[in-house]
Amino acid sequence: MVKHPKPLVEIAGTGRYLPERVLTNEDLEKMVETSDQWIRDRTGIRERRIARDDEGAADMAERAARAAMAKAGVEPGEIDILILATATPDRWLPSTACDLQALLGAGNAMAFDLAAACSGWLYGLTMAEGYLVAGRGEIALVVGTEKMSSIVNWEDRATCILFGDGAGAAVLRRATGERGILSSHHKSDGTLGNLLYRPAGGAVIPMSPEVLEKRDHLMKMSGREVFKNAVRSMADAADQALQQAGLTGDDIDLLIPHQANMRIINATAKYTGIPMEKVYVNVDRYGNMSSAAIPVALDEAQEEGLVGPGSLILLVAFGAGFTWSGMTIRL
Ligand code: UT7
Repeated sequence: MVKHPKPLVEIAGTGRYLPERVLTNEDLEKMVETSDQWIRDRTGIRERRIARDDEGAADMAERAARAAMAKAGVEPGEIDILILATATPDRWLPSTACDLQALLGAGNAMAFDLAAACSGWLYGLTMAEGYLVAGRGEIALVVGTEKMSSIVNWEDRATCILFGDGAGAAVLRRATGERGILSSHHKSDGTLGNLLYRPAGGAVIPMSPEVLEKRDHLMKMSGREVFKNAVRSMADAADQALQQAGLTGDDIDLLIPHQANMRIINATAKYTGIPMEKVYVNVDRYGNMSSAAIPVALDEAQEEGLVGPGSLILLVAFGAGFTWSGMTIRL
């Protein structure tokens, strides 16, 4: 029997938005017991962006989405599927995706939020791919947007140094040529949820004066355990995505790993055999922007001319849940 090739869905345009305010390691030295040296040695981070008080996940998403739509030559009314990945929705109801839909005027779209933490944008690409291949629409918009500063405990030096705010987006459509998403692998392990989580503030333990007092509505993390799992899972995700596409690390023009920690990025590069010259890094400038990290990096890498039409890229993510993802794309 003739094996039919997988129908391809391509990235038609990407965009990003980073808030103006820069929070440096030196600034953090004045807030908690830490040092620029410790932060750089353990994470590679020098500074991160922090959104304004009145700026939310939907606002940042709008800026990134408009940039992606301009590059793709797509108008808001043409979007059929709008997926917004975030761990920091502006409010519980309605979804931030619907708020973004209203901001954009994307009146013909179905819009929903996707909760898969740092892997959310890659999960979203695969969901959009499925809708488009199934003929459920022509154009999809997938955004990763995070106001991590709103869920960080600014008194906890082990976590507050790590995160930053921002948004990245891509417009997707069915491909007419050879370019597009070649493979993807996504996994989750909910048994490890409490290694990176917000203990309260949801439906089971709602917000209360006690929750606020104990700061239980903010993020808590078992750093070392998360670190070990991230290294292991990102290696697995890279392996699976490469194998599925019939590729090896040698074929890859650029590896874009989730930007959480320079040591995790180095370990992923080493495992895949991809030299550091072919690994995109911006964690030094932005810290960990969760679901926004990879789309921001992909947009920057194209702007810097590191990749262009035809380039083969490997994207790898890991986040709370745990969730992890690997994907290969011919740009
Ligand atoms: O997207 C996924 C999200 N998260 C991640 O990917 C994070 C994964 N984990 C990590 O990146 C690392 O575990 C951290 C950077 C968070 C921490 O690095 P580590 O090498 O695992 O350090 P540690 O947690 O084992 O802490 C070592 C020491 C401790 O002191 P003692 O107990 O040895 O005296 C900490 O209290 O460093 C101390 N420490 C700090 N010191 C200065 C923790 N945070 C800080 C800090 N400044 N900010």
